[in-house]
Amino acid sequence: MNNQKYLIAANWKQNGDSKSLIKLINDFIKSYKKIKPRCEILILPPSIYLNAISNRLSHHKIPRKKISLGSQNISSFDNGAYTGELSVDMTKDYNCTYALIGHSERRHVFQEDEKTIAKKMQLSLASNMNTILCVGETIAEYNKKLTKKVILRQLKSALIKSSVLLKSDHSKVIIAYEPVWAIGTGKTASLDNISDVHSYIRNVLNKILGIKTNSIKILYGGSVNNLNASSILSLSNVNGALVGGASLNSKKFIDICSSI
Ligand code: 13P
Repeated sequence: MNNQKYLIAANWKQNGDSKSLIKLINDFIKSYKKIKPRCEILILPPSIYLNAISNRLSHHKIPRKKISLGSQNISSFDNGAYTGELSVDMTKDYNCTYALIGHSERRHVFQEDEKTIAKKMQLSLASNMNTILCVGETIAEYNKKLTKKVILRQLKSALIKSSVLLKSDHSKVIIAYEPVWAIGTGKTASLDNISDVHSYIRNVLNKILGIKTNSIKILYGGSVNNLNASSILSLSNVNGALVGGASLNSKKFIDICSSI
């Protein structure tokens, strides 16, 4: 296990309602206060509930450095006539300090292309947001042994517009490796597979930015749960987890956070 502080993120996706999500965060805070896990925790609620969740954290006097808030997506445009969109600066108004970009559901369900993802990265980083870029291959790409090729393309295209900024300061960028076939399927990638891809991502980041990037966190996501978290998080170059399904259960999520 390395010494870097781990980041464990809860991606609630489009789940729950006001009542159930308030209960979820209240239950989670109760366990959190008892256990005090040593990692940084990030909650990514549906954006319409950001304010309510933020109020619960304030009410329970939880320091924002311990449990942060983030948005699951941001607009690829600055404020203007873009109906239905939320700009990165708007999410800041709701105490968001993180933005998730290029999640596989955005890429595959909403057909977000690499140009759009690069624009979002640029806007988010320019706005000084902690920015999590998701990368990962589909099952067809995995079967054709194209994982590294896909990840190289996704990293290069997303970071290219921001590379000048990142060369002088890469403290705000985080990568999440989420194999598409492992998301919500219960099929976690093998430890060897995760290890291999994460060290590949580290090498690509070093090459793209031309510097040692050991301080850039690389998270793993895809069917992480309370039973497999500890072995995944003990791998080198795994600096945290991006958790979907299991983050909707406060007990399972606190178990993941305290498995470090
Ligand atoms: P699951 O943990 O449900 O597989 O989801 C992973 C994910 O997509 C997190 O962003």
